[in-house]
Amino acid sequence: MTVAIRVKHLSKRFGAQEAVCDISFEVRQGEIVGLLGPNGAGKTTTIQMLLGLIEPTAGDIEILGWDLVRHRTTVLQQVNFSSAYVSLPPRLTVWENLDVFARLYEVPDHQARIRELLEYFEITQLRDRQVGTLSSGQVARVNLCKAMLNRPRVLFLDEPTASLDPDAALRARERFKEIRAREGLAILYTSHNMAEIEEVCDRVIFIHRGRILAEGSPLDVTRQILGAAVEEPDLEEVFIHVARASESPATAAGPRPIQPPRAVP
Ligand SMILES: Nc1ncnc2c1ncn2[C@@H]1O[C@H](COP(=O)(O)OP(=O)(O)OP(=O)(O)O)[C@@H](O)[C@H]1O
Ligand SMILES: [Mg+2]
Repeated sequence: MTVAIRVKHLSKRFGAQEAVCDISFEVRQGEIVGLLGPNGAGKTTTIQMLLGLIEPTAGDIEILGWDLVRHRTTVLQQVNFSSAYVSLPPRLTVWENLDVFARLYEVPDHQARIRELLEYFEITQLRDRQVGTLSSGQVARVNLCKAMLNRPRVLFLDEPTASLDPDAALRARERFKEIRAREGLAILYTSHNMAEIEEVCDRVIFIHRGRILAEGSPLDVTRQILGAAVEEPDLEEVFIHVARASESPATAAGPRPIQPPRAVP
């Protein structure tokens, strides 16, 4: 399968703060990969570097075979993102917002595309509302429409369901899986909802303090952190174990120690 995202030895330092520290990984076309980790682990910083929004301190990023620095425009036309924490211009209506982004991405027949996406994410009735007047869950759906406008081949979803109610989140997940199956795109996904990650992601990369702690299927990662005898994926337990172990060195030295970052080829 073609590699959609290839990250090699990527690091980002903010002053003395090492937000991301020498991480390497790949996401293949058609895969949904979860980027997991406690608050401040470096997930959003990683995604921002992959989107070219912030410059890495070190390392290389290749997307769809293109080096992000040398082929920035080509790459950015083929990617998109949705984030719970990036705001859209609040005075513009939903339609105006999507219209601006569609023009930026030079989406062919963009009005039809916007109508199709509003329907797909079930917000056609909001098209003439100013974005600043919407509830956070409604804004999240506008963000998802925005993210799909240019039919991206690589999609970054940073907590895309954070403000959705359980039913809307369920439907959004169905949509992501549907889009992946139909368009074969690669998705890098963050969420603090571990059940959601287990449901949606083929593979997960667990990061902690900017470093990769474990990588593989949800079951692989559970075994890497909690022990080989575990029979079911339990990322919730993995998460709690990592967070508590890092608070208390005594726990980390207990029966289920955190493994050191794996060497990356
Ligand atoms: N612009 C910045 N300047 C200084 N420090 C930053 C900046 N952006 C991020 N950081 C720091 O880098 C670290 C990683 O932050 P990041 O936002 O990537 O975490 P995250 O894994 O997305 O966490 P969360 O789950 O809370 O969203 C944090 O310690 C954060 O305070
Ligand atoms: Mg974040």
